[in-house]
Amino acid sequence: MSPRRILVTSALPYANGHIHLGHLVEYIQTDIWVRFQRLAGHRCVYLCADDTHGTAIMIRARQEGRGEEAVIADMSAAHQRDFAAFDVVFDHYGSTHSPANRELCGEIWAALRREGLIFQRDVTQLYDPEAKTFLADRFVKGSCPKCKLPNQYGDSCDNGHTYSPTELLDPVSTLSGARPELRSSPHLFISTEKLHGFLDDWTQSGGHLQPDVAHWLAGAFLSEPLRDWDVSRPAPYFGFEISDTPGHYWYVWFDAPIGYIAASKEWCEKTGEDFDSWWRNDETEVHHFIGKDITYFHTLFWPVMLKASGFNLPRMVHVHGFLTVGGEKMSKTKGTFVRAATYLEHLDPAWLRYFYATKLTPKLDDLDLNLDEFVAKVNGDLVGKLVNLASRTARFVRESGLATTYPDDGGLFRQAAAEGAEIAAAYDACDFNRAMRQIMLLADRANKYVEDRAPWTLKKDPAKAEELRQVCTVALNLFRQLVVYLAPVLPRLAEQTGRLLGRPLERWSEAQQPLVGTPVGEFEHMMQRVELKQVQAMIEASKVGDESATGQASTPAAPVDGPEPLAAEPLAPMISFDEFAKVDLRVARVVAAEEVPKAKKLLRLTLSLGGDDRRNVFAGIKSAYKPEELVGRLVICAANLAPRQMQFGTSEGMVVASGLGGEDIHLLRPDEGAKPGQRVH
Ligand code: MSP
Repeated sequence: MSPRRILVTSALPYANGHIHLGHLVEYIQTDIWVRFQRLAGHRCVYLCADDTHGTAIMIRARQEGRGEEAVIADMSAAHQRDFAAFDVVFDHYGSTHSPANRELCGEIWAALRREGLIFQRDVTQLYDPEAKTFLADRFVKGSCPKCKLPNQYGDSCDNGHTYSPTELLDPVSTLSGARPELRSSPHLFISTEKLHGFLDDWTQSGGHLQPDVAHWLAGAFLSEPLRDWDVSRPAPYFGFEISDTPGHYWYVWFDAPIGYIAASKEWCEKTGEDFDSWWRNDETEVHHFIGKDITYFHTLFWPVMLKASGFNLPRMVHVHGFLTVGGEKMSKTKGTFVRAATYLEHLDPAWLRYFYATKLTPKLDDLDLNLDEFVAKVNGDLVGKLVNLASRTARFVRESGLATTYPDDGGLFRQAAAEGAEIAAAYDACDFNRAMRQIMLLADRANKYVEDRAPWTLKKDPAKAEELRQVCTVALNLFRQLVVYLAPVLPRLAEQTGRLLGRPLERWSEAQQPLVGTPVGEFEHMMQRVELKQVQAMIEASKVGDESATGQASTPAAPVDGPEPLAAEPLAPMISFDEFAKVDLRVARVVAAEEVPKAKKLLRLTLSLGGDDRRNVFAGIKSAYKPEELVGRLVICAANLAPRQMQFGTSEGMVVASGLGGEDIHLLRPDEGAKPGQRVH
């Protein structure tokens, strides 16, 4: 098959909130799909951006007393850090508040006008006379006009009634507490009905949508005349002023999807790629990944905008379900609304990537993160079935390398190679759950082989050195084959395996041929077991106290601190600021921790200073910490200490802790939000 040209997007996250585990379902799903396509030899570009416009950002900026631009710049940096930490790698990450997006909005708008799809109509809306702004449904509360339930939002009540905000009884603006007034202003609309026939065809044939989505659209929308779409908002509004209608702004959902094209344009400018060949070319496939809540924007309005302006229509819109935790909606009070950054302080991102992969199917069903299941899968599958294959065999062939001809393995490698096509088809169809199941069955067979041939017993008999080499050659090849199949999900493990066996895993076809006669590198630690208590600590750290439940915030008792610690270790002599500034303290993340055999006090830590910067540090903290408690957490590291040669290896820094020793050792941890690599001043 000749290589496909694929342009992939994930929905653009709103700039008014941090990335959480729900978002990550989508970004991890898309990243896995993109990595698979590249591994399979296709040209695949992955683009995204922050969705920055709208009333919510405007209000947030007002509350924070700064400009919208400052708010969105901070959030974009935070989003990008979170994505990178989960190995979600974009070719370009833009912003809808960009010159490229403004220009494209104007272009698409002009095309919609030319096609006669835009018209104007007066709209009566609630207006806050104090905050001097029209109120979106979310910013007005009152009693439901149908059941009289008090304290309900402007569009629907907790009893499931829907209504218009102008019908709300005793409405109050949540911005100022003022009673909103009804005001009328002209709005611009897109007449979607004029392209009804096109939408019937595009949604119901050609395989652009999952069958359930096509079915839902047919029943819920396409069976009757399509509603006109209100795409303008009167000032004040944080967005782009409509090119030909001063004082009016494009509604955020008009410019947001255009952000996909704008990000592509910026990427083309950055790389010298030809823009038209990506967005005005039948040979390019555009794939959007989105959550089910934003389906109709992407499957009704967006195709209309693209059709009218002559851009590529999506080859496919992939819709996924929502994340639940323990079978329930994510909840801040229960601690199940977990931010990406909080997860990273406690757990390894590879674990979540794998867990989500086992849950993702091409269906729209919600996915559940059951915490016990998460622990069982990480420990059972990743550590027990996968990494163990290498950790139990690699060191036996460290000196000899792999055998020069591939030994008889009873057909295991060949059989697993033959299953590669089916696994690839499952990835391509977004059925990662099926791919993971198939891969783990192969892992079971490989483990049975290792158990039966017991290399650890062969090792004891020098006469069996060659047999040992053969068994390990088979085990490592089966391991490598599994890692190729898992490379889209576990890119870091794939890199480590490439280093271990001296050949990078960059092609799906690497799983077709065993490696022979190559040296075997030092076995690097690959994956830690997860303990339920680490997961529980993450949940605890995510809990937001429900003050409304008791009506008051609890005030912690003032701590009473004794004089003993200072007396036990009096202050050191005074130093100048310049002397202090010589010590370069950095935030670091513990990415691996292990005991050092024979060393009574030491743990060996691998610290990440962000990106690829890793430090090997020996810390005398074994009496106070277990290695597994440390992995994932942030520490402070003295990063410019000269490396120190120790009996067990070289120490490339020092972690900072307080206490007198023994169990009285307390590592310093920065407050939430700190990132590896940041300097501590
Ligand atoms: N800004 C819009 C998208 C504009 S695209 C032109 C938006 N942003 S969002 O931040 O709310 O969501 C981004 C993506 O994450 C959406 O596809 C959304 O469905 C998805 N998810 C947000 N919360 C989610 C869960 N709890 N579970 C699964 N996906 C979730 O929508």
